[in-house]
Amino acid sequence: MKGLILAGGFGTRLRPLTYTGAKQLIPVANKPIIFYGIEALVKAGIKEIGIIVGETAKEVKNTVGKGEHWDINITYIPQEAPLGLAHAIKISKDFLRDEPFVMYLGDNILKEGIKDFVRRFQENKPNALILLTEVTNPQEFGVAVIDEKGSVKKLIEKPKEPPSNLALVGVYLFDTEIFRAIDHIKPSWRNELEITDAIQWLLDNDLKVESHKVKEWWKDTGKPDDIIEANLLVLEGIEPLNNGTHVDSTINGRVCTGEGTVIEKSVIRGPVIIGKNARIIHSYIGPFSSIGDNVLIENSEIECSVIMEGARIKNVEKRIDRSIIGKNVVINVSAHSPRTHRFILGDQSYVEIIK
Ligand code: DAU
Repeated sequence: MKGLILAGGFGTRLRPLTYTGAKQLIPVANKPIIFYGIEALVKAGIKEIGIIVGETAKEVKNTVGKGEHWDINITYIPQEAPLGLAHAIKISKDFLRDEPFVMYLGDNILKEGIKDFVRRFQENKPNALILLTEVTNPQEFGVAVIDEKGSVKKLIEKPKEPPSNLALVGVYLFDTEIFRAIDHIKPSWRNELEITDAIQWLLDNDLKVESHKVKEWWKDTGKPDDIIEANLLVLEGIEPLNNGTHVDSTINGRVCTGEGTVIEKSVIRGPVIIGKNARIIHSYIGPFSSIGDNVLIENSEIECSVIMEGARIKNVEKRIDRSIIGKNVVINVSAHSPRTHRFILGDQSYVEIIK
């Protein structure tokens, strides 16, 4: 079986973070989101993976490489524009050939992985296997209607009035019939070849579409709050590992620190992950925080946040909570009067000052 990971698209809902990089490369628990997908495929025994890339191809290639890290082969497939999930499959025909494959959306994280689903697909040999989960906001996803036996009856992409609360998770398994289906569908109102329409074509033509409900958590990291939530969910499962140095500090709970990291006169309350060569001085790092490599935090408090590599945060009086701080961002509160705010923020930055 082959794997197809989708890492094209624009990531507009994650601006400004996506002005300088791909959304699939944003770190969750200090690991680029796309790595979770690659690792899920590798754990299911898949060694040939194609990655769909768009405008951010260069950054994706630089971060992911050719697959040597996982002992697999990675082929990059350029997509001229994000013309839909089914379009991504269509342009991958030369890579996928006649083999069944798993399509994994590069911004999705699925806790339980996909090993079981791959096994079921190989045993039952349906033409498509889709994963479903109950959500409170079905209008933001592809939605499925199933009957009392669990058979899929209908799929609709982001319906205004959802007929069920069962969302399509961004992991799909297909055999070659999907190419025939895609040849029969037309672009939707948003000018995308929708995968939901292609699967609906399979249903309408009496081909076998199986569905399974995921048991553990799943996250589509499309918006900033999803990144914070995904970070929290991943950190919930981390094992402590200390490669750094602690001086006059208190470390509680599950905390991972990377080589060269120094924690001085600080309190770290896990679950927390801190990368390499970071410095935490006279500060508090609270639960569900991920601190990247080479970050400096001094006289400040952080909780439930993602702080990316190279950021410098100094003398912030109030606790920084549920925040995402991009690479090399500087936040510095100086003691000079008059007491003013001074901001140099890029387009679509978001600042919230709570009095
Ligand atoms: O996450 C699950 C949802 O994913 C499903 O419930 C929906 O049915 C499905 O359409 C999809 O919806 P999204 O609106 O979340 O898809 P998004 O545009 O964010 O694209 C998902 C990933 O695929 C993302 O990493 C970007 C990439 N992509 C997307 C398109 C449209 C491509 O590589 N090429 C594309 O043409």
